[in-house]
Amino acid sequence: MANDTLTITDNRTGKSYEIPIEYGTNPLRSTYIRASELRQIKASDDDFGLLSYDPSFVNTASSKSEVTLVDGIAGVLHYRGYPIEQLAERSTYLETAYLLLNGELPTPSQLESWVSEVTIHTLLNERNKTFIEGFHYDAHPMGMLVGTVGALSTFYPGAKDIYDVESREKQIVRLIAKMPTIAAFTYRHNRGLPYVMPDNELSYTGNFLKMMFRITEPKYTPDPVLERALDVLFILHADHGQNCSSSTMRLIGSSDADPFSALAGAAAALYGPLHGGANEKVLRMLETIGSIDNIPDYIERVKKGDFRLMGFGHRVYKNYDPRARIIKKTAEEVFGVTGRNPLIDIALELERIALEDEYFVKRKLFPNVDFYSGIIYQAMGLPTALFPVLFAVARTSGWLAQWQEMLDDEEQKIWRPRQVYTGTEMREYVPLDKRG
Ligand code: COA
Repeated sequence: MANDTLTITDNRTGKSYEIPIEYGTNPLRSTYIRASELRQIKASDDDFGLLSYDPSFVNTASSKSEVTLVDGIAGVLHYRGYPIEQLAERSTYLETAYLLLNGELPTPSQLESWVSEVTIHTLLNERNKTFIEGFHYDAHPMGMLVGTVGALSTFYPGAKDIYDVESREKQIVRLIAKMPTIAAFTYRHNRGLPYVMPDNELSYTGNFLKMMFRITEPKYTPDPVLERALDVLFILHADHGQNCSSSTMRLIGSSDADPFSALAGAAAALYGPLHGGANEKVLRMLETIGSIDNIPDYIERVKKGDFRLMGFGHRVYKNYDPRARIIKKTAEEVFGVTGRNPLIDIALELERIALEDEYFVKRKLFPNVDFYSGIIYQAMGLPTALFPVLFAVARTSGWLAQWQEMLDDEEQKIWRPRQVYTGTEMREYVPLDKRG
């Protein structure tokens, strides 16, 4: 490009500064200046320099990342360059996790040893069971998951060696392997059912279904359609760039905390309804609408501003969320086994009407990943409170890929945002007997 710089004139001093403009892989979506360049802009010698103020990081890149491309304008999602549609169609969750973590798809022998490593690490130390048993019978499964993952760090003190590559790899395998076991145990705890031990003969999601749903069958065989559907949902949720929970993983990890503690923090960020809980709200909305006849009235109320259409709109996607399209197709396959969830027909009609309505078209509001996922989970017999737990199981590979990338990035150090102080100027302490 001709002259890749930005000239800034500070009208307080009349001084001009020339700042380099830099680019990521896609110059249309990742052109940037380094915020630290602004520090040279000072009104006086004792001035700290200009800060950029960006509450909620709406226009601030915290990291350079090679893991996931989210192009919300084009409606595109790639993991390590591979379109999500191809991965959902042809890959498995564990192969995708390997891709996210290592940057390349595994060779057949790499895949075999990766799957075998994960499979043999699915067991939890018996004391974890005691730990989970300490939770109240109706404890939220996400609260139990956050607590139990954090507690795992005490079982693996070697996890603190985060710059020892061998140790790091071991913790990555442990986390990916044990998250489904913890998730299933939280479900069984809520139900008052005995915990089911992992089964090394089954696939990642087949084993998960067994740990969740086996009752007294001597041999539990997961339904292959549901096993694959869950695998596809896990692939779709595996990573999504610098979202709230992944940024939390990086933030905690930047203090060199062990990955179990950092991942507990990331899962806690996901627990918030604005992040991991939107699919639950979609279900409640569809239940409230109740029938296709009520949709036009409901849409009118959304347009009047009474409430929002849940599962519609996205901070980044201003186009159809590619994950929603895949989930919609997967839903039909799942219903072939579970029977049709009647909420899907309300959802389909809602989407049809909304996509033709000027209000939604003008604001570029499309269905997002949460619009159809809850309907599938519900059809599979999973309770609503467990939805964010499933999200966390799937996102574990993405969190770890982001964490690992940060540790290997020489530009990264402990995260420490600046603040714009707006409090009182210095004042003298007032003794208690002299106050008002
Ligand atoms: N239903 C109706 N109107 C919506 C809407 C929705 N789901 N989402 C956004 N809008 C409207 C806003 O009212 C606003 O309209 P205005 O310009 O007339 O004021 C406009 O679209 C822009 O909304 P804004 O809140 O600035 O967008 P955002 O990028 O900050 O919000 C979400 C993104 C996801 C928070 C928002 O779309 C939303 O609340 N969606 C519903 C919840 C949801 O599905 N969350 C899951 C996300 S994965």
